[in-house]
Amino acid sequence: MLQDGFGRRIEYLRLSVTDRCNLRCTYCMPEEAAGGEEPANWLTYDEIERVVRVFSTLGVQRVRLTGGEPLLRKNLSDLARRIAVLPGITDLSLSTNGTHLARQAKALRAAGVTRLNVSLDTLDTTKFAAIAKRDSLAMVMQGLDAAQREGFSLIKINMVMMADTSEDDVDRMVAFCIEHGFVLRLIEVMPVGSAGRSTAMVGLGPIQDRLRSQFGLVDGIVRGAGPARYLVSADRRFQIGFITPISQHFCETCNRVRLSVDGVLYLCLGHEDRVDLRAPLRAGCSDSELEQLIVDGIRHKPFRHHFEEQPARIVRFMSATGG
Ligand code: 5AD
Ligand code: SF4
Repeated sequence: MLQDGFGRRIEYLRLSVTDRCNLRCTYCMPEEAAGGEEPANWLTYDEIERVVRVFSTLGVQRVRLTGGEPLLRKNLSDLARRIAVLPGITDLSLSTNGTHLARQAKALRAAGVTRLNVSLDTLDTTKFAAIAKRDSLAMVMQGLDAAQREGFSLIKINMVMMADTSEDDVDRMVAFCIEHGFVLRLIEVMPVGSAGRSTAMVGLGPIQDRLRSQFGLVDGIVRGAGPARYLVSADRRFQIGFITPISQHFCETCNRVRLSVDGVLYLCLGHEDRVDLRAPLRAGCSDSELEQLIVDGIRHKPFRHHFEEQPARIVRFMSATGG
């Protein structure tokens, strides 16, 4: 069982399979973000499978594939299949921007991915292009259609709140999610990387109050052990989560660590504390040595972020660790 120095159980691994992305969302990546990590430094699927297997023997049951945009990594469904069949893994999910989902939804579902989070900040074509710097809303819509046809057990829409997000943007997204049976999550911007720091954070409190009264929502619980606090409609058919890392941080219940594409284990989004696993992997370490590195690293997981007091701290981009 993995436990950190504060008694928190770590049972969730977020696995970034690439740091590249075909979009350039303002709060995540600067337009000029180039290259990223050298392909030679990307963990191979064999290496990733091995790390996940070791995590699973340490009690981690849930894995999420993230990026960058994970669907840009070649043959991702092969990796998904290899992870899904590992004995200890009970839940395999994927976070994507949705642009490449139309072509890959079927293979991913067949490989054993059961739940999807799709990033979508607006349903307005012009606004989408302004936020993502690419005119790709139609592709995301096709991706969502395909995902729905493939019968994923849960599809969540992640919507980051920005100063330009209007009440109408939120209301349209609520209506869209009700219509399609998607769970909506509103997210506060975190000051990770220069892109995150240069985007104004909009606290979710007022929006939450407005939606509560306008749609008659009440407090609810939704499966998927994440940090969101949920409101649900009286008939429970609509669920909306509020992810408030800044206005109400949830670090005391943190259950996760993140592995970047180059094999670095990041212990917290708000800190640079990390453990390099690539060098030992490539130097031929044994499984038990790998286990020990992970166990020791997680013991040093920081208690919480300090985004409010020290926003300038994290220099890596969100695309390195996949949110
Ligand atoms: N703050 C909050 N959320 C972010 N994401 C990317 N960058 C940030 C940021 N600076 C979100 C994306 C996606 C998830 C993986 O992380 O919108 O939904
Ligand atoms: Fe966990 Fe760190 Fe995020 Fe807090 S900031 S929830 S401790 S990863």
